Amino acid sequence: MSFPTRRLRRLRRTPALRRLVAETSLGVDDLVAPLFVREGITSPQPIAAMPGVVQHDRESLRKECGALAGLGIPGVLLFGIPAEKDAEGSGAWAEHGIVPAALRDLRDEVGDDLVLMADLCLDEYTDHGHCGVLTADGDVDNDATLERYGRVARALAAAGADLVAPSGMMDGQVAAIRAALDGDGRADVAILAYSAKYASAAYGPFREAVDVVLRGDRRTYQQDVRNAREALAEIELDVAEGADIVMVKPALTTLDVLAAARARVDVPVAAYSVSGEYSMLKAAAERGWIDGPAMAREQMTAVKRAGADFVVTYLARELAERLRS
Ligand code: PBG
Repeated sequence: MSFPTRRLRRLRRTPALRRLVAETSLGVDDLVAPLFVREGITSPQPIAAMPGVVQHDRESLRKECGALAGLGIPGVLLFGIPAEKDAEGSGAWAEHGIVPAALRDLRDEVGDDLVLMADLCLDEYTDHGHCGVLTADGDVDNDATLERYGRVARALAAAGADLVAPSGMMDGQVAAIRAALDGDGRADVAILAYSAKYASAAYGPFREAVDVVLRGDRRTYQQDVRNAREALAEIELDVAEGADIVMVKPALTTLDVLAAARARVDVPVAAYSVSGEYSMLKAAAERGWIDGPAMAREQMTAVKRAGADFVVTYLARELAERLRS
């Protein structure tokens, strides 16, 4: 009769033992809430494909951020929906545009209790839904877009953003934004780069959230899901260009990339658990097919275990409420 030489079950025997030896923890400090704010509305609008998530008006956004700060969540990531869209996406750099207005409201509401992050892109503001300006042939014009990103960065920084988050996947965007910020005396505004952002089916519900009808797809600028080495090239370039934090997106389908990024660079690494990941979880939980809260916690813990320092997730508020109780 031979017995096992190593009994790993010994340390799993009681909850306290399991807590003692846990390698990963998920806490309120790990959560960032993405939030939508829409110009010209006076009450929050539900987003059908994302139960529990809304397009905020300025006042409801204030209240939500006050509550998130009260829960101890360290940061929010803002997305704006302008009243008017145009070919260039000029609403993105309007001095009194919706996100600059919201940033001013929130600084007044929460002071420095929340890190105020603003997504930096054009797709919510362009009438064609692409993340940049188009050439006459309809391609996304990389370098003409960089010039616009610089304008957006300056508008967001002037309104008080702690951190801007370029998500358009243009080559050179981090360097262009860093130069625009530094040239405007905003050396203390940090850049959270969506460095490895895949062309994913999981962004579907987000299009509804920001009222985007996209012509075509984003495969000429977002990454091919088959590639991981290319993601590391994107990440290293962004760090070299001055990214303070790099982000991988979506989260659940890129755990290998997260782990490799964590091993490769010394800046913080974030993960974005995107709209479709949230919607899948909510849809299955609504049907009673999975235990939603348990699944949410398991997924976000796995993202941390893979190497993320924090997670941007639509589950932030409900996770924080449960983690604190
Ligand atoms: C682009 C942007 C998108 C998301 C974040 N920033 C849309 C896209 O790339 O198609 C998606 C976020 C989500 O799905 O939750 N500004």
